[in-house]
Amino acid sequence: MAKFSPPPGTADIFPEEMPLWYRLEDTARRIFPLYGYGELRTPVFEYTEVFKRGIGDETEVVQKEMYTFEDRGGRSLTLRPEGTAGVMRALLNTDVMNGNEKRVFYIGPMFRGERPAAGRRRQFHQVGVENAGRVAPELDAECMAMMMQYLEDLEINGAKLLINTRGVQADRKPAEKVLREYFRKHIAEMCDDCKTRVERNVWRILDCKQPGCGGIVKQAPDYVSTYTAESRAYFDTVCGLLTAFGVDFEIDKQLVRGLDYYAHTVFEVIHPGLGAQNAIAGGGRYELYLPENSKPIIGVGFAAGLERLLMVQEALKVAAPAPARGPVFLISMGNAARAFNMELAHELRSRGIPVVIEVEEKSMKAQMRAANRVNAAFAVICGGEELEKGRVVCKDMREGSQNEISRSELNSFLGKIYKTEV
Ligand code: HAM
Repeated sequence: MAKFSPPPGTADIFPEEMPLWYRLEDTARRIFPLYGYGELRTPVFEYTEVFKRGIGDETEVVQKEMYTFEDRGGRSLTLRPEGTAGVMRALLNTDVMNGNEKRVFYIGPMFRGERPAAGRRRQFHQVGVENAGRVAPELDAECMAMMMQYLEDLEINGAKLLINTRGVQADRKPAEKVLREYFRKHIAEMCDDCKTRVERNVWRILDCKQPGCGGIVKQAPDYVSTYTAESRAYFDTVCGLLTAFGVDFEIDKQLVRGLDYYAHTVFEVIHPGLGAQNAIAGGGRYELYLPENSKPIIGVGFAAGLERLLMVQEALKVAAPAPARGPVFLISMGNAARAFNMELAHELRSRGIPVVIEVEEKSMKAQMRAANRVNAAFAVICGGEELEKGRVVCKDMREGSQNEISRSELNSFLGKIYKTEV
């Protein structure tokens, strides 16, 4: 039966769970436009080159985690492992390349072939934002403030914002030199991966999760002090603005992020209510070199993992959204009543009232049970006698009270309850 379960690291999401997902999505659609962001939908797959060039050939994501395939036309395509590269590909042909700002957000599935674990899936969902086209510390700070407002609105308390600066290209070499000199001295005590990282990619050592490396990393020299005065001032402005906005944060020199496109500010939000996969959102300022020999497309943004937000809400016991009012259940006693009810169902639904109707001949008791199963708010009963009188019985399922009313009275009553036009 394995073939007929969802593949490892993926899941079906059933209608009953949807109100929780809608809350995450609706809140994004309400908060982000307050800051001038509009929704952008890009394809779920792109040319593989977009991610290789965008995210960086050397990253774990590109080297080990992408779902890449050849289509029937021999093109190499990849299911998007994240949103930024595709969004930037879409914006390449807009005027962001002339320094005009473009603010977009996105909601959708992403795909990474990681080992599935609690909070780590192969198909997961992100909401993300990208502010493309301009560089300014104000934009970085505003982006983080918006992210924290989003999380607060979702009642995610206790989240911790960690920030750091990667500097710009010119800052990298002097910082790498200082780090390399230090790690070379400790190479014997480090894990095998980090031993090779010293020369190949020294930054990756900073976020190594191996216990042996952790202690060494903690004592690493302050590489940010080697950055240019301009880069350090940029970061100070970001921190000052966050303080002015009342956004709490912690500077974490070990935060480098796993994607190569970052420059200047990087940040992550972690939550203690989660296990090992404790990052609920992450982002930063970036430079993406998409077409060869082009100037970079720049921006700042973040993405939050929806599965992880739901896990935190569950751990914090955030109350589920109030369920919508249940439907009207039409109970028919006999064929003529059912024909009448089929037509009534169509009329009510076309006016925006949710209706469930039993289409087979069943006892009153069985139909009442079915009404309870779908959490009906009202049961409307029609039999031979009612048909003759031109009236139906409308039962309030919560209060248990019932009234015999005409069809037009029923229409106007339900219209008022469900707030549709009468
Ligand atoms: P990221 O840190 O790779 O950044 O992913 C953002 C969030 O997606 C993570 O904090 C986590 O909540 C969630 N996430 C990532 N991988 C998984 C997974 N396998 N299962 C469940 N959740 C996951 C980015 O994707 C960047 N594009 C963010 C960004 C936007 N930077 C600038 N703009």
